[in-house]
Amino acid sequence: MATSTSTLGMTRLHPKFGVEISGVTLRQPLDEGTWAHIWEAFNEHSLLVFRNQPFTDEEQMRFASRFGPLETTVKTLGKEDRLHPNLVELANVDEDGKLLDWSDRRMLYHSGNQMWHTDSSFKQVPAQASMLSGRTVPPEGGETEFVSCRVAWDTLPPETQRRLEGKVAIHSFAYSRGLIDPTLLGKETEALYPPVRQALVRANPVNGQKTVYIGSHASHIEDMPLDEGRAILKELLEIATRPGNVYQHRWRQHDLVIWDNRCLLHRGRPWDSKRYARIMHRTTVAGEGPTA
Ligand code: OGA
Ligand code: MN
Repeated sequence: MATSTSTLGMTRLHPKFGVEISGVTLRQPLDEGTWAHIWEAFNEHSLLVFRNQPFTDEEQMRFASRFGPLETTVKTLGKEDRLHPNLVELANVDEDGKLLDWSDRRMLYHSGNQMWHTDSSFKQVPAQASMLSGRTVPPEGGETEFVSCRVAWDTLPPETQRRLEGKVAIHSFAYSRGLIDPTLLGKETEALYPPVRQALVRANPVNGQKTVYIGSHASHIEDMPLDEGRAILKELLEIATRPGNVYQHRWRQHDLVIWDNRCLLHRGRPWDSKRYARIMHRTTVAGEGPTA
């Protein structure tokens, strides 16, 4: 049975962004009215939380495809092949069901998610939406945190906004992973993802709301001394991630969390990985790009 729009409920998650939406079953086909409502909420509120959404991978991919074409997973340590190429698995469990510690190389790679970032900004076409489905969640820790960079933009004095407008940041996977361990990616993956140019200021195409576009993959600013560009990126990140600007999502099993990578930053929080399994499946919608 299709959901009728009139049954949807919305509760704010943070004063500046994010809503929890109730009254819809996303694995069922959505009628146009319900879909329009979700699309509008996505562009307006940037972060959508849906509780009690048990998905099969097929259902999750079908729902995600309503937003646009799906991204293909980055090939890094080989383990991604277990699922469909349009799915990312974030799991601390190996092939035999054994829990992995943070010292394991696979986990070290995932620990990159604990830096504030926006998905795939190191690709020519960065991600628009990411959708994370909580399949197995730990009873404590392992939260995901979000901030809106629209808030950072709105905080800046007009003359600073004018200075940033039109600037291009260089985003690089090798740079961000190099912050963890210079050998983490390997030459092959590095070669697949050469540094890309991204607009430092972006506007939402539906409502025009501006944002800064930064995060861990942003290495420096084009045509600016390295240190100067990095100092600006650092300052923007500090403004964006002030404690009062953060929404922390505490996971329940079968949550589906959708975020707008064009204007939000997110990061995963640690948990006791030797003790608790955490298995998340992500579908990622390709955005528009190059942005600069
Ligand atoms: C992601 C991500 C963080 C987390 O799925 O893109 O960064 O909390 N996840 O798992
Ligand atoms: Mn991410």
